[in-house]
Amino acid sequence: MKYRSVKGTRDLFAPESERFAATERVAREVFGSYGYAEIRTPTFESTDLFARSVGETTDLVHKEMYTFPDRKGRSLTLRPENTAGVVRALIERGVQDLPKPIRLWYAGPQFRYEQPQAGRYREFHQIGAELIGVPSVSADIELLGMLFVFLRRLGYEGLRARINCVPTGKARETFSAALREFLRPHARRFGPDDQRRLEQNPLRLFDSKDPAVQGLLKDAPKTLDFLDEKARAHHEEFKRELPQSGVDFVEDGTLVRGLDYYTLTVFEVTSGSLGAQDAILGGGRYDNLFAELGGPPMPAVGFAIGEDRLVAAAPKDPRSEKALIVVVPDSPDEFSYALAVSNEIRACRPDAGVETDFAGKGIAKGLGRAAQVLSDPSRHGARVSTVHAVLLGGRERESGTVTVKDLASGQQRTFPRQNLAEEFGAARQA
Ligand code: HAM
Repeated sequence: MKYRSVKGTRDLFAPESERFAATERVAREVFGSYGYAEIRTPTFESTDLFARSVGETTDLVHKEMYTFPDRKGRSLTLRPENTAGVVRALIERGVQDLPKPIRLWYAGPQFRYEQPQAGRYREFHQIGAELIGVPSVSADIELLGMLFVFLRRLGYEGLRARINCVPTGKARETFSAALREFLRPHARRFGPDDQRRLEQNPLRLFDSKDPAVQGLLKDAPKTLDFLDEKARAHHEEFKRELPQSGVDFVEDGTLVRGLDYYTLTVFEVTSGSLGAQDAILGGGRYDNLFAELGGPPMPAVGFAIGEDRLVAAAPKDPRSEKALIVVVPDSPDEFSYALAVSNEIRACRPDAGVETDFAGKGIAKGLGRAAQVLSDPSRHGARVSTVHAVLLGGRERESGTVTVKDLASGQQRTFPRQNLAEEFGAARQA
């Protein structure tokens, strides 16, 4: 074969494509019920935007971006995540003049040059939400509560958030210095990446894949011991209030997340059913990012869910059921009658999928094809509730009747075409 999909990318056919669409529908419904509106930002941005927001020393910026010069030599990057784009868009819109809070959600492809494996792709999809303009911990609590309502709507039960609070400002500097001091005596044994992390941004050592480094970090200074009074109060209230929002959680002092923009609250949710790539989602507060990118100071908190993983691990099928109706003309003589009848059925059953069969090789063959439609999940996106075949021969065409067969029970009836609405209305009740 000459052309194949690029490594780390994939094609989504039905029913998987429909599971994605149904999951996004649930997101729109749940997030909409909390006042969130959808935002769509461009798939590529200036490279500098991600370097400034996600951070130069993160793996994401350092090793995983799809960066290329455009024809005028400007450096562009396929977005590896969506928060930076949302913040850039809001600053451009004049965020300071917009009524607060601003509640936005998004769904779309993201790109990271990672080693592909089950649940990890180079093009993957995220569903995320950002709540902007609220400094108080109530925003963190509402956001996580909404996230868990969404997960439960998809059938996820028993999930638990790992939460932490990362120091900001001076406290973060003190923490970084303490971490550097603790680890420096062991640095000779570190790989080049971890040596670079130690000097440039010691918090990034929590992302290290080296078991020796992870072992050392178990006894290293902890984020929670370095919180200033304000941060500590924020975190304590967060922990106190979360259970009332239906969020089960456990505190993890080593969770810092792989992006630099986080301040205070951070969280992740993993699922045991996903294997090695078990992080379903991550998020947190990023109170300095707007200012960092040249906007006004603006508190914000958000999350992004890996949609590919969310769909793969979903305990129940999010697609709704659909009735299928296959219209089978006996021969090409009945094709135009079949088109008209199909349209009339669509008008009275907009909830159903109505397919016209154009083989014209007789009713028996047509029925065989209708049965195939039923058994082939990639032919239609929905879960099939009922299948009816509408059989149209010369007799039906001449007398203006239709013969309808219920493929499950085998029952068959012939009635005047004018009664379609009535008869298919009845089929909907059944
Ligand atoms: P993140 O933790 O980098 O956070 O990504 C969020 C989720 O995207 C991960 O938990 C994972 O499920 C999914 N994901 C990441 N990389 C891949 C991949 N290569 N293949 C499949 N799924 C993947 C962010 O992106 C932040 N923007 C979240 C956020 C929003 N923080 C505040 N607001």
